[in-house]
Amino acid sequence: MRVTVSQIKAMKSKGEKIVMLTAYDYAAARIVDDAGVPLILVGDSLGMVVLGYQSTIPVTMEEMLHHTRAVVRGTSKALVVGDMPFMTYHISTEEALRNAARFIQDGGAQAVKLEGGVSVADKVRRIVECGIPVMGHIGLTPQSIHQLGGFKAQGKTPEAAARLLADARALEQAGAFAIVLETVPAPMATLISSKLAVPTIGIGAGPGCDGQVQVINDLLGSFADFVPKHARRYAKLSDIMSTAISEYRDDVRSGRFPTEEHSIPMDEAVLADLS
Ligand code: KIV
Repeated sequence: MRVTVSQIKAMKSKGEKIVMLTAYDYAAARIVDDAGVPLILVGDSLGMVVLGYQSTIPVTMEEMLHHTRAVVRGTSKALVVGDMPFMTYHISTEEALRNAARFIQDGGAQAVKLEGGVSVADKVRRIVECGIPVMGHIGLTPQSIHQLGGFKAQGKTPEAAARLLADARALEQAGAFAIVLETVPAPMATLISSKLAVPTIGIGAGPGCDGQVQVINDLLGSFADFVPKHARRYAKLSDIMSTAISEYRDDVRSGRFPTEEHSIPMDEAVLADLS
């Protein structure tokens, strides 16, 4: 039985911290699911950490659905959230609903996430009315990077802080079951969390949020291009992978791999008949 949105919401009332992590493929999703992480986000961050784009903007519905299906196949307990890519929910409410439904029907996800507050609240309301749980995402919204002028902290000035709180309230009123707060000053995230009944999930938003989300590649150190300030590396997989790959390269070159142990034997008589 998978975790439900009601269980996620109840965790806030019980004061239980909510753990969320991204995953993009079957193998990683299995490990995350087995570790007991209740919320898995197939983030459009896959564009940067898996597909090598410079931002999340080029990510398509087809790419997201392909990876969402893989993550769903690798999980049986976690609630899987599919991240709606840029311009798949902006043009009209109908299009937002159609694309959200694709995540559920074709992707097998149990919820969707989209970026924005007041400006997307109508779309969130309609998607939720149709039975699809929605997670909001405000603060630093990477799909609006050109508008925001870079990967900068949000909600610092009095006007920006008031806008952020209004965005959070609009999402809650529209029916979002949780809200990601990205790169927001910690005291501001704590204040928003205290004003909402639905849980906040922070990334670069301090310890006062109801839960935390991280990009799995940042946590495992498998993405060598850069480490965001908000990430803590629990491993350095890029070094482990590099050492293993170099050993393999040297073993092949020197003939140390493969050995008999990795080879398929054959009846000598069959070979003798051929020669
Ligand atoms: O795409 C993503 O991974 C995200 C998280 C950073 C919240 O949106």
